[in-house]
Amino acid sequence: MDKLSMIFLGAPGAGKGTQATKICEKYNLPHISTGDILRANIKAGTPLGLQAKAIIDKGQLVSDEIVIGLIKDRLQEDDCKNGYLLDGFPRTIEQAKALDSFEKIKMAINIAVNEDEVVDRIAGRRMCVCGESYHISTYSSDTCAKCGQKLYQREDDKPQTVKSRLEVYNKQTAPLIEYYSNKGILYTVDGSQDIKDVYNSIVKVIDDNN
Ligand code: AP5
Ligand code: MG
Repeated sequence: MDKLSMIFLGAPGAGKGTQATKICEKYNLPHISTGDILRANIKAGTPLGLQAKAIIDKGQLVSDEIVIGLIKDRLQEDDCKNGYLLDGFPRTIEQAKALDSFEKIKMAINIAVNEDEVVDRIAGRRMCVCGESYHISTYSSDTCAKCGQKLYQREDDKPQTVKSRLEVYNKQTAPLIEYYSNKGILYTVDGSQDIKDVYNSIVKVIDDNN
């Protein structure tokens, strides 16, 4: 078995974060989310966080240079030596090319969900600072089931910001589907199924191709 280096592709709200948590637990891999790293920087008030906040709140992308630097450093850490799961990176062709220059990616798994469904999922999402996310239709408490902290709504989950995130996704990130398909490492799962079935579909893809 070689290094399990994987990417999750998918629109905002497709379920990348939800599935990444579970998949990383099963395969004992680090879950590397550029969105989570950027939000942690915003919370800590770092220079990067201050710079990123205005961009994220508008639903735009942080510069390629910044996120490529973040990922390059992160992938050199010890816990990545047997593999990792990238969630939210790469998001532009430029980022994908940079990643190819320093890593060999084994699988790109696209979680496919139609646009109406993702809008609904984002509108009802509630987050915990520990990384868990919930949906108001299936979870009625306002505290996290894992750690008990209070749930909040992400600043960029407001309807007008979601609209620009989807536009950015269609223009800049969706072309990655073809990029990885051309490399012969793209696997698509039906993300409109319930959380457990999406998980089972992803596990099957990984086990069949590892
Ligand atoms: P990021 O945090 O990556 O946000 P995103 O890509 O918009 O994705 P989301 O986190 O919104 O969705 P998700 O697919 O993780 O869905 P989730 O599992 O939570 O990025 C945020 C921002 O940071 C970007 O806009 C950009 O500005 C910046 N950024 C990040 N990476 C960057 C990069 N590489 N380059 C430049 N800028 C970057 O699920 C959503 C909801 O649906 C939840 O409520 C969940 O409970 C529910 N749900 C999940 N699965 C199901 C299911 N199967 N059925 C029913 N409900 C479900
Ligand atoms: Mg996410």
